[in-house]
Amino acid sequence: TSNQMWGGRFAAGPDAIMEAINASIGFDQRMAAQDIAGSRAHAAMLAATSIVSDSDAEAMREGLLTVLSEIEAGNFEFSTALEDIHMNVEARLKELIGEPAGRLHTGRSRNDQVATDFKLWVRDQLDAVDGALQALMKALLTQAESGADWVMPGFTHLQTAQPVTWGHHMMAYVEMFGRDLSRVRDARARMNECPLGAAALAGTSFPIDREMTARELGFDRPSANSLDAVSDRDFALEFLSAASICAMHLSRMAEELVIWSSAQFRFVSLSDRFSTGSSIMPQKKNPDAAELIRAKIGRIFGANVALMTVMKGLPLAYSKDMQEDKEQVFDAADNLMLALAAMEGMVRDMSANRPSLEAAAGSGFSTATDLADWLVRVADMPFREAHHVTGTLVAMAEEAVVDLPDLSLEQMQSVHSAITDDIFGVLGVHNSVASRTSYGGTAPEQVRAQIARWKEVLA
Ligand code: ARG
Repeated sequence: TSNQMWGGRFAAGPDAIMEAINASIGFDQRMAAQDIAGSRAHAAMLAATSIVSDSDAEAMREGLLTVLSEIEAGNFEFSTALEDIHMNVEARLKELIGEPAGRLHTGRSRNDQVATDFKLWVRDQLDAVDGALQALMKALLTQAESGADWVMPGFTHLQTAQPVTWGHHMMAYVEMFGRDLSRVRDARARMNECPLGAAALAGTSFPIDREMTARELGFDRPSANSLDAVSDRDFALEFLSAASICAMHLSRMAEELVIWSSAQFRFVSLSDRFSTGSSIMPQKKNPDAAELIRAKIGRIFGANVALMTVMKGLPLAYSKDMQEDKEQVFDAADNLMLALAAMEGMVRDMSANRPSLEAAAGSGFSTATDLADWLVRVADMPFREAHHVTGTLVAMAEEAVVDLPDLSLEQMQSVHSAITDDIFGVLGVHNSVASRTSYGGTAPEQVRAQIARWKEVLA
């Protein structure tokens, strides 16, 4: 039998393979609530503009609520023959209310319908990611606050560089996730134009009121160009690229947690609730959640590349290629939300090992820069020369297998006569971090100022 939506022109129904490649109901049923909200707004507008009667619109709006409750209750039969969520909902509405259902599609096409539904779905996801990011940032702030002045090594090249504070390191992630938050909000503000009423591509000759449907659905305004409205998927791509950058941040943080929880570092212990054991090695406590978060960037960035590739060659306006947008976004959204929640839980539950952090902070000649800076300040040495003198001292300590503060004053003076006993004051890690009071630096007072600022932002 030919299709009930366009059967007029068709003598034969689709091949089974055609139906299989064409149907999107397997995944776009996730947009049922958005589809019904869009149709209810459209029906109300059709009545307000006298395109359909009030009683027909009322029947549509009521019937659509029934369809929604059937879907939510899980007793709706989705049909592959009906292709997608739009036609499944409309066909059921026809069963429920009869003839008026056929008037719902006046002045509308599935092209503006799907763009509207998908935007509503992505908008909800942006809001969900917004909330999850804030929760993670709050967990980081709590960690930062409890260890604002705990010392730990700061690294470059994963080699000991200079001492930093635990609070400072936690707050670095707050900055990163803070940028993710602002990207999510930018994307939401930019995407919030309503495609509904663009119809197939050219607009419609019915006297529709696009301002009304836009308002009804929480959009700031209707989109201004009907061709663009139905062929735009920038909102999905912006979601995916913001999600990719966020997932990259999560992955970097996860990598640090994997390193930090190792027996060789012991900077943190992860809670049992976010770890797994080994079936053969009884001592093992593995950071699986961190590893999986680290891996999620793969599929999320993959989705971004996939949709970008789908879109890049499409002539205006709608092409069926665009149906491939949803699974990528759904998968990326699900996995980003999971990764954010897992990271929040890990951060909330982990405990920083203060003695290990402090011991590591002082090893690896981490205060060599403080020594060089001291030579500049006290002996008025050019920094390049101070660097050289300090390097000689480091080599001496390395040779003796001791740390810098373990060298005697005589040993140090043999390298440069300007060195006095005061030098030992700057070789301590607490002194080192306390001295870095420049704006944004690692000094506990600076860290506390940033914690206070972010608390206000997130309040
Ligand atoms: N299922 C389709 C999609 O996801 C809906 C739009 C179909 N439009 C059309 N002209 N065939 O894109």
